[in-house]
Amino acid sequence: MCGIVGYVGGQQAAPLLLEGLTRLEHRGYDSAGVAVLSGSGIRVAKRQGRVRDLADRLPRRFGGKVGIGHTRWATHGSASDTNAHPHTDASGDVAVVHNGIIDNAAELRQRLTDDGVDLVSDTDTEVIAHLVARSDGDTLEARVSDALAEIDGTYGLAVVHASFPDRIVVARNGSPLIIGVGEREMHVASDLAALVRYTTTVAHLDDGEMATVTASGFTTYKQDLTSSTHKGTTTIDVDPDAYDAAPPDPWGHESYMHKEIREQPDAAERVLRGRLDERFGTAHLGGLNMDARETRAIRRVKVLGCGSAYYVGQMGAGLVEELARIPADAEAASEFRYRNPIIEPDTLYVAVSQSGETIDTLLAVQEIRRKGGRVIGLVNVVGSAIARECDGGIYLHAGPEVAVASTKALTNMYLGFALLALQLGRVRDLSIADGKRLIAGLTRLPDQIGEILAGEDALAGIATRVAEAESLFFVGRVRGFPVAREGAQKFKEISYRHAEAYQTSELKHGPLALISPDVPTVAVVPHDELTDRNVAALHEIAARGGPLVVATHEDVDLSGLDGVVRIDVPRNEVELDPILLTLPLQLLAYHAARHLGHDIDKPRNLAKSVTVE
Ligand code: AGP
Repeated sequence: MCGIVGYVGGQQAAPLLLEGLTRLEHRGYDSAGVAVLSGSGIRVAKRQGRVRDLADRLPRRFGGKVGIGHTRWATHGSASDTNAHPHTDASGDVAVVHNGIIDNAAELRQRLTDDGVDLVSDTDTEVIAHLVARSDGDTLEARVSDALAEIDGTYGLAVVHASFPDRIVVARNGSPLIIGVGEREMHVASDLAALVRYTTTVAHLDDGEMATVTASGFTTYKQDLTSSTHKGTTTIDVDPDAYDAAPPDPWGHESYMHKEIREQPDAAERVLRGRLDERFGTAHLGGLNMDARETRAIRRVKVLGCGSAYYVGQMGAGLVEELARIPADAEAASEFRYRNPIIEPDTLYVAVSQSGETIDTLLAVQEIRRKGGRVIGLVNVVGSAIARECDGGIYLHAGPEVAVASTKALTNMYLGFALLALQLGRVRDLSIADGKRLIAGLTRLPDQIGEILAGEDALAGIATRVAEAESLFFVGRVRGFPVAREGAQKFKEISYRHAEAYQTSELKHGPLALISPDVPTVAVVPHDELTDRNVAALHEIAARGGPLVVATHEDVDLSGLDGVVRIDVPRNEVELDPILLTLPLQLLAYHAARHLGHDIDKPRNLAKSVTVE
């Protein structure tokens, strides 16, 4: 979380830093700050609030052609002007911006305090500035290296020093740091979004690496300075315009989430393009780096992801098990490595992540690889840490996703699983006819997604009604349960209403006690082998006065349920129902949050990429 930017070159740094921070604000947005180096030393401006608050109050004379900036998601210490980054030492000669968590911060703070250092913030980061200042190294690189030798924890960080005014020194351990190469100028950022306006030639630092960045280039080396790491650059294939602000939508409201919801038909087409083999009823996924023999040898599939990526992972595991008949399940990546998991050689581990930077998922991947397991990634951001760590994978091609609430990436994750299930299934018992049936279904999906989005007006009306409830249930069974989980997640994330997901079948074992006219239930009821059981449960809810909103298919009979609000989605193959049923729940959450006047793209307490454990 948090965003880092840095600039060194021939232009004034402050406007570039602020622009970069605006593009990183989705990573953390409780406070922001910049530090620039000029002939008279380092000047820092920082404050609680959004980047625009900082920009509005930036001192007039804030010149300097080297600088660093930060937008924060609080870990140690509340959101305040003082806790905002950059942090400096007492003399103000050193300024540091940092993403991650210093695990031994308390111990280091105590040691510094015992030595008479006056710590002004509650943060873990401030200790780094003091440690750099106290080092007697001859170079900034040596001083940063000395400081890092004392630190346990995760970091992406950037340091400037008044005595070394031509450079920024950066380091990475568990939190992304990218160097962007320009024309006689260089950029630094924790996320591509801040760089792509200026350059698409980049170098990703690896864990344990440091770099010196000057206007004329960069060098990378090991953190203990024992050797150079000779890092090359890569040119990334992205459209900088895709990172621009969302255009006004038909409701006259600007939000990335709405833009990203609306982009789903195109995004879905992109993830499928060139990967469907109609002749053999299978999928081509060259990036998996597995031949047919290796694919056949897989005995189990284990999916790992966090939050919505975990819920879609649960949908995906169901799909793999159903189509390929391989036992498959999903687990929260954040819990996985703490139970000392048994890693089996014939299990295919699948890490799912939009950002490719979620630290919990990344650490799960590292745990699996350390124990000799094979991991593939379903990742959206090309070249991200998880993508680079995996043995192979499926890029999602959803395009940049900026809103904290994941929508189009999630849809493409599901489609990625459908492709994987097809490929795994077709080297086993999935018949060519079934393969072709699913390919036909997948081909219909982008248009059907468009059809659901066309019903947005009606969904907005339903959303304003359910938004009034303080508490809601989202329920579904089997294929529908992860849909309910994801629906509840989206709803609570941006509307701040309590939304609890349950298996419909489990309601009568406890939660039914909570059903009342004040607690609506959003039920997922596809036309499938469980329709009758689902509808029976709806009657039990209705009998207790619970209002019902039902995401379903046109031919599901809901007669006899007074006041039920139905949301009909187009039918596809039953195996593909979950993703079509997920879409209206995105719009329900979006319009509820909009009705409640919330900041949709930057919901309270959250950030887009969760790069702290
Ligand atoms: C989604 O709406 C959430 N913001 C969140 O749960 C997210 O899916 C999770 O943090 C995982 O992120 P990733 O896909 O970037 O790994």
